[in-house]
Amino acid sequence: MTPPTTVPMCLPEISDAERDAVLEVLSSPVLALGPRLSAFEAAVAETAGALHGVGVNSGTSGLHLAMIAAGVGEGDVVLTTPFSFVASANCVLYERARPVFVDIEPVALTIDVEALEDRLGRLLAEGARVKAILPVHVFGQPCDMDPILALASRHGLTVVEDACEAIGATYKGRPVGALGRAGVFAFYPNKQMTTGEGGMIVTDDARWDDLFRSLRNQGRDVFDGWLEHSRLGYNYRLDEMSAALGLAQVARLETLLVARQRVAEWYGERLRGVEGIELPSRAPWTTRTSWFVYVVRLASGEARTAAIEALAARGIPSRAYFPPIHLQSFYRERFGHRLGEFPIAEDAGRRCLALPFFPSMSASQVDLVCEVLSAAVGARWESSDPGCRVVT
Ligand SMILES: Cc1ncc(COP(=O)(O)O)c(C=O)c1O
Repeated sequence: MTPPTTVPMCLPEISDAERDAVLEVLSSPVLALGPRLSAFEAAVAETAGALHGVGVNSGTSGLHLAMIAAGVGEGDVVLTTPFSFVASANCVLYERARPVFVDIEPVALTIDVEALEDRLGRLLAEGARVKAILPVHVFGQPCDMDPILALASRHGLTVVEDACEAIGATYKGRPVGALGRAGVFAFYPNKQMTTGEGGMIVTDDARWDDLFRSLRNQGRDVFDGWLEHSRLGYNYRLDEMSAALGLAQVARLETLLVARQRVAEWYGERLRGVEGIELPSRAPWTTRTSWFVYVVRLASGEARTAAIEALAARGIPSRAYFPPIHLQSFYRERFGHRLGEFPIAEDAGRRCLALPFFPSMSASQVDLVCEVLSAAVGARWESSDPGCRVVT
């Protein structure tokens, strides 16, 4: 029998401010495309240091629209990483283009810049129509953006940041999101801030801002009349209830990020030095991690399976995170991908384990997870004094 859950995997942080904001919308006549959306867009754009923000109904929708804006079409190639959520590559397929994967570096698990340059060189030599680079700021750490942007500019490529997991992260002191031509945030309830379902595209480009507004709204341009549609568009709009929730959340983003950071530090203090558990590491270019998940690497895939089972037996959920995209059955069948192509992503995919993580997580909940995890890897947990907790 499955034991009852003792610690949730994630938990959105919803206060009276959020409840009041959503109820206020419900008492108003405007439930879509209203003032909360505009205010939310301005607030997220400001957080990202961008000139424009366009709210959409998911991170995936935002990535899709960014691919369209980048002119990605049938037969084109977009370079990205296989160590991500499947939406990062699916958005390329929506436009009948080909996602070409590049392995990751082993520190922050983001796209490996040397491998990127090498793969791009080979693609260009083959005559491939490479259109864009889609770096993913995975687990809340930025990619090494400067060399990516320099490479893109040398070859006339568009850079779209998948910042779905990284709102508030900074790269060499600069917020992620508008480092490339556009970036996309996601607000699913496990994210640093939530709108329920929802996402936001940020950009400094005024023409792209107009284009995104049209594309998310059935192709209606700002100057189009009612039921006039200048282009093929979608219904990717973000409603006012979600926008009001997001506005209240983004106003508290700093507090939420600090709370997440504190939980990450508790994990670090308790698990540091435990044999068989590798802690998350910070890349030299990361000036702020926006803690999205707390992911450790265990010694092997077998050790991870044993840990998942031991945690589950105590009612503690955990997630094997990420199974690389190229090994998903659909990608294998369609593109002939196989094991061994991207060794670092595959190794991370075998050994990474996301532990329960949310801003209101208590120190005793962290203790419990660490105790069970340590036992699962063969270390014994002892004192409640941070720094001297584990006896191996
Ligand atoms: C890296 C990454 N890209 C894209 C997405 C897609 O966002 P959404 O679930 O809002 O469509 C996610 C969401 O989990 C993600 O983690």
